[in-house]
Amino acid sequence: MGRRGAGITAVAGWVPPTVLTNFHLEKFVETSDTWIRERTGIRERRILVERDRTTSDMAVYAIHQLLRKRGLAPEDIDLVICCTVTPDHVFPATANIICDKAGLRRAWGFDLEAACSGFLYGLACAVQFVQNGMYERVLVVGAERMSAIMNYHDRTTCVIFGDGAGVVLVEPVVPELGVQVIRLYSDGSGRHALFQKAGGALHPPTIETVLNREHYVYQEGRAVFGHAVRRFTEVIEEVMDVAGLRSEEIDWLVPHQANLRIIKAVARTLRLPMEKVMVNIHKFGNTTSATIPLCLAEWEPRLRTGDRLILATFGGGFTWGAIYLRWAYDGSLVPESGRILDAFPGEGTANGQTEEKNSD
Ligand code: ACO
Repeated sequence: MGRRGAGITAVAGWVPPTVLTNFHLEKFVETSDTWIRERTGIRERRILVERDRTTSDMAVYAIHQLLRKRGLAPEDIDLVICCTVTPDHVFPATANIICDKAGLRRAWGFDLEAACSGFLYGLACAVQFVQNGMYERVLVVGAERMSAIMNYHDRTTCVIFGDGAGVVLVEPVVPELGVQVIRLYSDGSGRHALFQKAGGALHPPTIETVLNREHYVYQEGRAVFGHAVRRFTEVIEEVMDVAGLRSEEIDWLVPHQANLRIIKAVARTLRLPMEKVMVNIHKFGNTTSATIPLCLAEWEPRLRTGDRLILATFGGGFTWGAIYLRWAYDGSLVPESGRILDAFPGEGTANGQTEEKNSD
């Protein structure tokens, strides 16, 4: 029997309606719209301010859209892999909560934490389950409420991150399509450059850890920047080498949206024109595990069967990796294609976000 392929066969995304612009941030910390735009490429990000909703809810809204787009019932899903650094609780896993809230009665699920590389690690796992024939339909969710772990007095981090959720469906496809090459890495010696100092088993929450603001994201931006540019480029070149791909054969680069300068540096080194690079950091910021599926959801109308995509990431850990895949369907034929929803179910679109606004 021939090898069974596994590919992405549906995508969806959801972001909260509340927009936090650079001008808003100028009121909390000593920064400026100009500094943020020039150093990161970010103009605004979305923030989930509603206290009664959180990471699992954003994931569920995205999943409902995906099921609708693909014409599937909740019972059709076998497994949910939820990639997040902002789980609803330390335990139980947010994937379990998502299954319950989304009515995925037949599915089981688990969380996967690899910071900004979470989604690619999760996609790699999903592909194994589908390729070996164990499951038919696996959801990979990247969902983050980064605002929950953001110190809005720390200008070096609070300008970067945003909230949102993206989800993809992984199903069997012919081996010529779907995921072709996977390369994932980690180096724990970088763990002190980007992390949350307290709240885990090493430093459980105490009055002191809270007063010291140790439950927020801490980042040594310059150190992370240097590693990101190098590792990003290395791993993409490795994947291209294994696949025998030349730059001009790549249809789309889908980079983790950490910093526009990192994305541009990598594209320049790979001699890829920016027209082939998915970028939405200007309006969503860095949504950690959600950046790559949100890009795929937004660019879906332009994706065609057989397109060659490289998904690449770098994040806390350090973790990094790249996946080469051949797109498995014609995105222009899908209902709601390219629409990233930004309203709560049953409510109107709060900020009038339209497809038009999404494609700017
Ligand atoms: N507004 C104004 N000034 C600022 C701000 C701000 N928001 N933030 C920092 N500065 C200041 C610094 O204090 C510093 O001032 P100093 O020279 O007086 O000390 C100066 O600007 C330069 O600081 P740098 O940290 O060198 O700024 P840089 O240009 O590197 O930009 C940034 C910082 C945006 C964080 C960048 O380093 C970066 O993008 N790093 C990589 C992020 C990344 O890839 N993370 C991995 C993924 S995230 C994840 O895994 C969860």
